[in-house]
Amino acid sequence: MKKRKIIIDCDPGIDDSLALLYAIQHPGLEVAALTVTAGNVPVELGADNAFKILERLNRLDIPVYAGADRPLVRDFVSAQDTHGMDGLGDGSIKRRSAATLQPETASDFLAAYFREQQDTSLIALGPLTNIAQALRKNPLLGQHMERFVSMGGSYKSHGNCSPVAEYNYWCDPHAAQEVYQKLGRKIEMIGLDVTRQIVLTPNLLEYMHFIQPEVAAFVRTITRFYWDFHWKYEHIIGCVINDPLAVAHFLHEDLCQGFDAFVDLATEGPALGQTVVDAYDFYHRPANAFIAQEVSSQLFFQDFLAVILEAPQEMIAQDLRTLQLG
Ligand code: RIB
Ligand code: CA
Repeated sequence: MKKRKIIIDCDPGIDDSLALLYAIQHPGLEVAALTVTAGNVPVELGADNAFKILERLNRLDIPVYAGADRPLVRDFVSAQDTHGMDGLGDGSIKRRSAATLQPETASDFLAAYFREQQDTSLIALGPLTNIAQALRKNPLLGQHMERFVSMGGSYKSHGNCSPVAEYNYWCDPHAAQEVYQKLGRKIEMIGLDVTRQIVLTPNLLEYMHFIQPEVAAFVRTITRFYWDFHWKYEHIIGCVINDPLAVAHFLHEDLCQGFDAFVDLATEGPALGQTVVDAYDFYHRPANAFIAQEVSSQLFFQDFLAVILEAPQEMIAQDLRTLQLG
């Protein structure tokens, strides 16, 4: 099977890190580069965490570019209350190498890369600041991408950092608006409507322990902090793992069901960061996004667990069904 080439823009971050474990180990993907933006944690911490994941996978051949250290307009507000001060649940995961960042900024790299290459897709797992800055430098950015998937926004699900807004687009609503207005490529919006259905539960973690104790222990270490947040604010036992679903959607286009619509962003006032999804075509504007609305959690976990646990997909699928997990 020919590997599909992707670049991941991220703000690692607990669920970003799970998405990186999944994407980098997936047999159907070639991760050409990682670009990092301020988001869950300040950009330098996010870059450090990206290296921690690459070190864990022995994949320091994948270049890492640091980008925006703050949003286009707003002051920077991190999500360290959710991801821990170190961005990995304060789980004391340490750097093990002296690997260094590439010299170019993330937006310079993205702008130049998509001038030459037209065989690569971009999966954005954080605020869209790097993408907006790259688009300003290369107006053809979107036209030269094969696909663009963004974990962000929400259609009908409540917000996770305000009554109506999802964090990535709340953190930098101006960048999100600019990308949705000017990318010139349909944005595959994997928002809270579907990611809230992807919950890593205690039973799933126990199952992971029986299959691959070391991987389960790593996942437990970085997600423990996240569970406390989820109990306090979402009143669930476990944690929503948003970002891996964006990767799974890219891999399996039948995984999420949804619809095309015109989307704009609220950039001020009480709805700041909200995705305004024109599902009934009030504005008569051409659709600029695919809005994912339904997903099979079990189908997601079949692939996600098979890859990160390095286990046969058929065995995982059978276990998830008989144990009623996922
Ligand atoms: O709202 C969830 C998103 O914000 C995820 O990508 C999480 O990592 C944070 O970046
Ligand atoms: Ca993220």
